[in-house]
Amino acid sequence: MKIVTVIGARPQFVKAAVVSRALAEAGGIDEVIVHTGQHYDPNMSEIFFEELSIPSPQHHLGIGSGPHGAMTGRQLEAIETVLIDEKPDWVLVYGDTNSTLAGALAAAKLHIPVAHVEAGLRSFNRRMPEEINRILTDHVASLLLTPSATSDRNLANEGIPADKIVNVGDVMFDATLFYKPRAKCPPQIDADLAASGDFLLATIHRAENTDDPERMRGILAGLALADRPIVLPLHPRTRGKLETLGLALPEKLIIIDPVGYLEMLWLEERCAAIVTDSGGVQKEAYFHGKRCVTMRDETEWVELVDLGVNELVGADPQLIAAAIERAGDPIVRDDSLFGGGDAGRQVVKALMAAAA
Ligand code: UD1
Ligand code: UDP
Repeated sequence: MKIVTVIGARPQFVKAAVVSRALAEAGGIDEVIVHTGQHYDPNMSEIFFEELSIPSPQHHLGIGSGPHGAMTGRQLEAIETVLIDEKPDWVLVYGDTNSTLAGALAAAKLHIPVAHVEAGLRSFNRRMPEEINRILTDHVASLLLTPSATSDRNLANEGIPADKIVNVGDVMFDATLFYKPRAKCPPQIDADLAASGDFLLATIHRAENTDDPERMRGILAGLALADRPIVLPLHPRTRGKLETLGLALPEKLIIIDPVGYLEMLWLEERCAAIVTDSGGVQKEAYFHGKRCVTMRDETEWVELVDLGVNELVGADPQLIAAAIERAGDPIVRDDSLFGGGDAGRQVVKALMAAAA
């Protein structure tokens, strides 16, 4: 069986690392990795291939940043050429970025079956580019590999036939379990802070926040009210927007460049709590037994909100500050939520069963 994997953005490297390893372990599967180039800074791309031992992409399309239509269109065109040449049995895509949609669409138009890892997530906010990417990808996919019971329900509600859906669990849970023993302190963190663990970890990159000056002001005002330092590995999108807006940054922010996954795992493991608008980091907070303050108005990971370990606070300074105050409280767990940590193997099993 030949599989073309299409990836391009940071969270996809983490997810693909898990599945690529499982594909190699299964044997007899030829995986061809295509990197669209959506993320290209060394600390947004190359570091993940190195640290997580992801096989080098056979095709690097080199398509960088740009408006959604132009980026997705250029990716679509270039992926189509690769697929015509490679003639895979399956195209494997991950998550909800423009690279996901381009990979899925290119394959579907060529009648190559698409397998979507992390299918079925919904925020029910169609102003999010990711929501459009997810819905369209799910509706052209032949195999929908879901991480949670919520995603199964979302797909059933949209009329996707049950025989296309396989709940494999969350590949990001596998990643946390597998790489945690190799977690390492980022060199930018000073020894006293590292030893104390008395800091919050924050990430901000969601377009609804970065592209709205009012929301960015609200978020910075909320973080300024926190009672301890906040380590913020700054996404290049956010860095660019902050520079353009010329907003003053609260002193308690310790801004560092984006870190590799092993450094991120260390920060997540060591911090007091997590404040984020990331999709993946919300779950990683839970995997590490930390509370999460989510600076969004809705989330795809509603089970964590229902469990009481994730609080949605939007961009309201008072809500952010109040949630941060509660962030040190212990969390409850529900081990049934995201599978058994073998989602990578389950993906391979589902692909083999679908191909048989
Ligand atoms: C993308 C995904 C988002 C995902 C995020 C993960 C889409 C629509 N969005 O958002 O779902 O959560 O990745 O991090 O696909 N930039 C650099 N260097 C890079 C990459 C980006 O400087 O290596 C800057 C550029 O100015 C670029 C901006 O970041 O215009 C945004 O990048 P883009 O890939 O369009 O979206 P993300 O915000 O990264
Ligand atoms: N991540 C990382 N370094 C960072 C920030 C995030 O390795 O500086 C990892 C994080 O641990 C998670 C993934 O990147 O595994 C999440 O990506 P991101 O937040 O960019 O995207 P989202 O999940 O929101 O799509």
